[in-house]
Amino acid sequence: MKHLLTMEGVDRATLASLLDDADEFYEVMHRPIPKVPALRGKTVATMFFEPSTRTKLSFERAAKALSADTLSFSPGTSSLKKGESLKDTVLTVKAMGADLMVVRHTSTGAAWRVAEWTDLPVVNGGDGAHQHPTQALLDSLTLRQHFGSLDGLRIAIVGDIRHSRVARSDVFAFNTLGAEVTLVAPPTLLPPDLTGWPATASNSLDDVLTEVDAIYLLRVQAERGGASVFPSVAEYRERFGMTDARFNRLKPDTIVLHPGPMIRGIEIDGGVADDPRCKVLEQVTNGVAVRMAVLFQLLGGSKDA
Ligand code: NCD
Repeated sequence: MKHLLTMEGVDRATLASLLDDADEFYEVMHRPIPKVPALRGKTVATMFFEPSTRTKLSFERAAKALSADTLSFSPGTSSLKKGESLKDTVLTVKAMGADLMVVRHTSTGAAWRVAEWTDLPVVNGGDGAHQHPTQALLDSLTLRQHFGSLDGLRIAIVGDIRHSRVARSDVFAFNTLGAEVTLVAPPTLLPPDLTGWPATASNSLDDVLTEVDAIYLLRVQAERGGASVFPSVAEYRERFGMTDARFNRLKPDTIVLHPGPMIRGIEIDGGVADDPRCKVLEQVTNGVAVRMAVLFQLLGGSKDA
């Protein structure tokens, strides 16, 4: 694997190998000194042209835990403000000695363009509403840790599917690992055409609530137009929110996942967000472990180190 740009078409053996390595790095993260020298001398550049808390910090944490150096690019204080292009920005960071680039951008395909402009391995940290492959890996790791395997699991992904790169990545990973996925959203927040999505769809959260092993909640992507297609936040919460009342109707072993940032009071009530069956912080921890696995594999790290 040269790059990690998408989850579409990634086979089961590749996913399993990344998750197995992530399990090992999860163990490293929980040592008294959570650091190994596997990528000493390498430099990981995080190029985030769109806001991020988890993904950016987590890649930087992962790089440092493997003893790599990091170069962190911040668009707001950069020469982008003076009119420099994306291409010149990328070539500049490469000229400083980056060995790998993690790219997040509002435009679909941005990470592919960066991969064309440089000969470096590129990881897509989220491109518009398109793909976010490491999110799918960390979600798969969280489900695998909790249930032992994704084979035969029933998972509902609920909310703004239409604008969600997380949903577009998760469906492929979950399906390849053997789970059955139902997309749950009002018609206006489903993709106009579900051809190619390995999933079924429903317009009623209440219909699927008691059937599933995991509920994956999504934020309404207001910055991509998500909030303009339903009448009010109150109505959205009423029909698609994981309210305390709905949470109490789930099977006792059903878990709740969310990629963050959570918007309490819209897609998730505060009581659900703070319940031990909501795995959002385990997802965050697993995000570091899977990103260690991805950096390790793309930069050809040595396990002897
Ligand atoms: C998501 C993203 O940016 O795609 N967050 C994340 O990376 N954990 C989801 C979102 O913004 O709602």
